[in-house]
Amino acid sequence: MAQLFTRYLPIEQALALDQSDPLSGARRLFFVPPFGEGDSIYLTGNSLGLQPRSAQAYLQQELDDWKTLGVEGHFHAKNPWMPYHESLAPSLARLVGGLPSEVVAMGSLTHNLHLALASFYKPSGSRTAILTEEKSFPSDRYALTSHIQWHGLHAATELIEVPPMENGKPHSEETILRTIDTHGDRIALFLFGGVNYFTGQVFCMEKITRAAQAKGIIVGWDLAHAIGNVPLQLHQWNVDFAAWCSYKYLNSSPGGVGGLFVHERHHHDKSLTRLAGWWGQNKDRRFLMEPDFDPIPSAEAWQVSNAPILSMAVHRAALAIFDAYDLSLLRQKSLALSQALIGILDNAAVVTGEPIEIFTPREEAHRGSQISVRFPKRDKAFFNALTQKGVVADWREPDCIRMAPVPLYNSFEDLSRLESLILELLSQ
Ligand SMILES: Cc1ncc(COP(=O)(O)O)c(C=O)c1O
Repeated sequence: MAQLFTRYLPIEQALALDQSDPLSGARRLFFVPPFGEGDSIYLTGNSLGLQPRSAQAYLQQELDDWKTLGVEGHFHAKNPWMPYHESLAPSLARLVGGLPSEVVAMGSLTHNLHLALASFYKPSGSRTAILTEEKSFPSDRYALTSHIQWHGLHAATELIEVPPMENGKPHSEETILRTIDTHGDRIALFLFGGVNYFTGQVFCMEKITRAAQAKGIIVGWDLAHAIGNVPLQLHQWNVDFAAWCSYKYLNSSPGGVGGLFVHERHHHDKSLTRLAGWWGQNKDRRFLMEPDFDPIPSAEAWQVSNAPILSMAVHRAALAIFDAYDLSLLRQKSLALSQALIGILDNAAVVTGEPIEIFTPREEAHRGSQISVRFPKRDKAFFNALTQKGVVADWREPDCIRMAPVPLYNSFEDLSRLESLILELLSQ
């Protein structure tokens, strides 16, 4: 039945695109979950990235060193554990556009947001509010609300949320900027997702940061859906802090170690409260076990505990893959894949006559890998049918399907196969 419809991305064309793709070899660096005799169509790199084939060897190295060296591995492992996290900083710095001293692999995303909020949310006088996006990822809202309460304040008045244009739709940047302008004098801190988890909207982080800071607001970004997905220049944009997880676009294992960025202008500020732990202590003096905290003058000062080496080993394997590729080529391919997905969905709407609503912004500057879409005449059974045919996408209540073709391991062939399945199911 699907053959009756005019195709947007016929298989021959997809194969030709893959053949001329300078990044097509990267797929072989990952395990793609199987389906039947072949590969599934894996479109959830925005939720959990795929396992790098090299991860096992990196992990095995640390297990072997632990087996043979015990505690001596801190100094004598092939990759000594004491400074292990330092080796990840250059790769992370490249991905977020920061200095190596401004980034640290540590903790988990919500945990890191809490640590950053403890330092940077300083309500005082009439400047007590936090500005965030309505429909942010709930964990962020819980964290922000708890900090407001921690200061003895009330979220009902202190959490200002910019609503989306319509329920379940993107936000208007104009409204964000207007809110900053209108309420700026009473806002202490701004925190948004750099890429909205639901709509896939990419915010103009530079412009918004500049506007908020001009009003005296501290600016933080949740980069869960941005790092490894869209270009970032946190240092140049003068962002105060940012936090991320590594299990989505960074392919660094379920619940893998997260990361934090703190702009260098804050590194020497000892008046900032840091919820301190010994791993943030001056490295030259850490093992003197002195009672007073002397923070490392870098983002490392926010580390609380010693590093989870096994999780970091997988992170290291995954980051080495990014190190090997030109980030602008990754971005170009990401845009080509998401444009092809938009084309497939638009074409399906035309040739089947069925309404299909893409609500990720279509402009290149405002989208990354993820495309969020609704099939208003279909319910979850449609999504389940796609799943049964080997498509790994995700469903967000009440009616959103998120699909994120990522440039490291997705191919145009994946999208052409997806198109066949969508047309087949819509014709039933
Ligand atoms: C935007 C965003 N913020 C926060 C979180 C929570 O992450 P974690 O469980 O690593 O703290 C997620 C998880 O997917 C997310 O997408």
